[in-house]
Amino acid sequence: MKKEFELTKQNYRYLLENATDAIWVHDLDGIIVVANKACETLTGYSHEELIGMNVSRFLSKKFLAKARQIRRKLVCGEYFEQPYELRELRKDGSTAIVKVTTNLFISGGVIRGFQHIGRDVTEETRMHENIRQYAQQLAQAEKLNALGELAASVVHEINNPLAGLLVYCRLLSEKIDNHLLDKEPETAELGKEMLATLAKMESAVTYCSNITRGLLDFARQSKPMVGPVTVHLVVDRALALVGNRARLKNIEIVREEDPQLAPVTADFQQLEQVIVNLIVNAIQAMPDGGRLTIRTNQNGEWVMISVKDTGQGIPPKNIPKLFTPFFTTKEKGSGLGLAISHGIIEQHGGTFSVESKVGKGTTFTIRLPVGTGQ
Ligand SMILES: Nc1ncnc2c1ncn2[C@@H]1O[C@H](COP(=O)(O)OP(=O)(O)O)[C@@H](O)[C@H]1O
Ligand SMILES: [Mg+2]
Repeated sequence: MKKEFELTKQNYRYLLENATDAIWVHDLDGIIVVANKACETLTGYSHEELIGMNVSRFLSKKFLAKARQIRRKLVCGEYFEQPYELRELRKDGSTAIVKVTTNLFISGGVIRGFQHIGRDVTEETRMHENIRQYAQQLAQAEKLNALGELAASVVHEINNPLAGLLVYCRLLSEKIDNHLLDKEPETAELGKEMLATLAKMESAVTYCSNITRGLLDFARQSKPMVGPVTVHLVVDRALALVGNRARLKNIEIVREEDPQLAPVTADFQQLEQVIVNLIVNAIQAMPDGGRLTIRTNQNGEWVMISVKDTGQGIPPKNIPKLFTPFFTTKEKGSGLGLAISHGIIEQHGGTFSVESKVGKGTTFTIRLPVGTGQ
């Protein structure tokens, strides 16, 4: 090296002070003996405060343990990855994410302490996290778009035959009405039975049309048609539609309802669709029978409706995926039930939550704001 470029103490000092990374040295007890300007910026403490301070002041218990482990590895000559990440507590109580490189501080052939170079990556990390979240939202939106197009075409295909079915039901009812009911008692009785069956068919077809309407609404993200709704009537309707399926599977249905429950402002059919989806999922989770509990209660300005089963439960890794369109673990599942239900509840200004234990059962809880009375 050219002699004129040999670094003097003064040159080193200058490099230290001008480095944009924080540099600090502490002795074996953790007492800081050197700290540059960037270290002041990073921690929020002044140079006077830093010198003589114990580094443990910067670290929470968890990261203190990590820092200790790293120092031990350095002393023993064990390998570890550098730089490593630490979270440091600033003077103002906030936390900085710092990428740190640590080395031994040796003088006179003796280990005297540790020297650290730390880069503040708080902003960078947050930005990455934001980008990741944004990308996820975008992917979700794209899926929903595709879902919207698919829904629109499926609904279109299904609505025509459904309308046809409704017309045939009515024609048949009329024929029975006109030709069978005034015949001898036995025939008339048969006619009445047929009319009752046809009424059930009509109601099932209407239910299907409502679902297709719901799917289309969801795809278009249109506003629900809201009015004051008595939650217990929604549960009544939902159970009338799918309760039988539960009984056939040896599932006991328990209703624990708050008789004082306030009405909610909602679209009755959409809410019914949500409850039906939850009940059907619960039934499917209990192929060998069990108990289905529907509970309602009020907590201040919120009405809570929960559907609880004693079924197979949901593995924790699946919980974040539940409301994603097309997520299903069933051979013939659509993976749309919860995605649509979630959309509906969100549009009602409510929230969805789920609690589950594998092998024990699952509880889905809907929270809706108490009705405003319009
Ligand atoms: N009550 C429940 N118990 C266990 N798993 C459930 C329950 N409800 C939903 N799931 C899980 O969530 C997935 C998505 O449900 P959903 O959106 O209704 O679609 P699908 O029922 O068509 O699969 C299901 O495939 C299942 O794995
Ligand atoms: Mg389902």
